[in-house]
Amino acid sequence: MTGSIVLFGPPGAGKGTQASLIAEITGKPPVSTGDMLRSALSEGTELGVEAKAFMEAGKLVPDEVIIGLIRERLKEPDASKGVLFDGFPRTILQAEALEEITEVSAVISIEVPDDEIVDRIIGRRMDPVTGEIYHVSFKPAPIEIHDRLVQRKDDTEETVRSRLDGYHKQTKPLGNWYGERGLLITIDGTGSILEVGALVTSAVNTL
Ligand code: AP5
Repeated sequence: MTGSIVLFGPPGAGKGTQASLIAEITGKPPVSTGDMLRSALSEGTELGVEAKAFMEAGKLVPDEVIIGLIRERLKEPDASKGVLFDGFPRTILQAEALEEITEVSAVISIEVPDDEIVDRIIGRRMDPVTGEIYHVSFKPAPIEIHDRLVQRKDDTEETVRSRLDGYHKQTKPLGNWYGERGLLITIDGTGSILEVGALVTSAVNTL
């Protein structure tokens, strides 16, 4: 399939968790704006400094910053046959800008209600060595790596509420926007990681 795929959904829906599976099936490299911003932040680049306060408050980083970031990323050779966007676009303005840059072939929306999101995010842990995403109850990490696991700074209950509020106001309308263009595929994200993975796999296999 030519064109890019967008993985869409609220914070903590499981986009990052399912991205590697979709990347494996489609061969498209995952492009996560959240990961790119976190790398910039830990490297202390100008972008990281600019994004820090927004991210820690659970607010969206300004559109022009994100669009510039994506424009540069898509110039890289591995992006020539489309990529798998995770966490981008998040506003209609970002989606309109993306239309000018590359073709979007499908938007996979993972739907999870807000009350489940909070538990998922508060229990999330990341392995900084492999980038693997774990959860204290739903996907426990092997005991040998417990000492090195980290929790994201924006994974607090207060920040999650702010991220969810921003999602409902600024990002969710984008689902309808893509629906009107016939690109939206909706997945029930409330099952286990494996069950959601099976739904994602069958959706991707129809593309
Ligand atoms: P970003 O990193 O994109 O965060 P997010 O959208 O809030 O998404 P998450 O990474 O929190 O969740 P996810 O859906 O990937 O869930 P995961 O798979 O980890 O963005 C961070 C910040 O950067 C934003 O707040 C903003 O400031 C900025 N930003 C980024 N992109 C931007 C943009 N385009 N425009 C403006 N600003 C931008 O799963 C969560 C947990 O649940 C894990 O512990 C996992 O193990 C567990 N889990 C997953 N699936 C299941 C399941 N089915 N059952 C049980 N547990 C599950």
